[in-house]
Amino acid sequence: MNELDEVVHKASLEFVQASTPADLENAKARYLGKSGVMTDLMKGLAALSPEDKKSRGAQINKAKQAIEAALNYRRQALADLELQIQLQAEALDVTLPGRQRGVGGLHPVSLTLERIEALFGSMGFDVADGPEIETDWFNFTALNTPADHPARSMHDTFYVEGGSAEAPNLLRTHTSPMQIRHAVQHVKRYRGDQPDLFKGPMPEIRVIAPGRTYRVDSDATHSPMFHQCEGLWIGQDVSFKDLKYVFTDFCRTFFESDDLVLRFRPSFFPFTEPSAEIDIQFQHGPLAGKWLEVAGSGQVHPNVIRNMGLDPETFVGFAFGMGPDRLTMLRYGVNDLRLFFDGDLRFLSQFQ
Ligand code: PHE
Repeated sequence: MNELDEVVHKASLEFVQASTPADLENAKARYLGKSGVMTDLMKGLAALSPEDKKSRGAQINKAKQAIEAALNYRRQALADLELQIQLQAEALDVTLPGRQRGVGGLHPVSLTLERIEALFGSMGFDVADGPEIETDWFNFTALNTPADHPARSMHDTFYVEGGSAEAPNLLRTHTSPMQIRHAVQHVKRYRGDQPDLFKGPMPEIRVIAPGRTYRVDSDATHSPMFHQCEGLWIGQDVSFKDLKYVFTDFCRTFFESDDLVLRFRPSFFPFTEPSAEIDIQFQHGPLAGKWLEVAGSGQVHPNVIRNMGLDPETFVGFAFGMGPDRLTMLRYGVNDLRLFFDGDLRFLSQFQ
């Protein structure tokens, strides 16, 4: 190997050993730079005779071209390598499962409320909606539950700003205030401005009022926030037998069970007289034979009829208040009420 071949060989080797573009440029400077090996060799030509200069010059040029070729080759190799590394870093694994848009669905209690609305709707009931922050009047007093009534203690709740010191506003403890609110609106439409208790004529009041209610209560079967659905039917000839028929029909349809048995167990509510708790009993399935309380009910008390603006000698009717949370638990076999309000998708997605 002559001296020039050796230089080419050494340069090629250094290029190959350069592992970054910066190293490579440094190596290049050592051979092709202003004070590089090749430049020095060229300078050496000056001392030669014209013939030697020619042949030596040609050799040096050839060597220089070889070095440049090796340099370009390595440059390309390093660029390729860098590209490879970048591609690898940005690699997409198309076999990974994609980020999907979750399919939404209704909450199980909403499903129950929809079902209740549909079933009572088919029996001619309207659906009414009212405030969750109530006045003392609508939640208690108008419902024949004056300030000193012991029944109030079962409705311990959350008091909020507004109202008066003796009668602060509160989170409604039941949907029964909607009996008054809805009836007053309805009656106003037909009785105009006359101040006396209204004797009619007036189309019947037939309404359900589902919504959130609140009490100071919290365990596996009680939540401080829970749902109720009020029912009210007021007319001139609406009796307890209608309540039994309507509610029995509703329960059997709701649970899709024709032999479901209902029991109307005497009870007390200030706003109904007589009053009854409604219990149901399944004849099949895991709960068969047990009495399960699902609602409070009764004939609307004459004082409540009066507070609706109606003459209690003319108008009568029934009311009930049921627990959609309870109905949902029974329908789907859920044993802890709190699951409904924890927002855990593992639970909720089972209802879609
Ligand atoms: N509001 C009563 C309760 O929450 C239930 C009820 C409603 C009872 C209507 C009779 C009539 O316990």
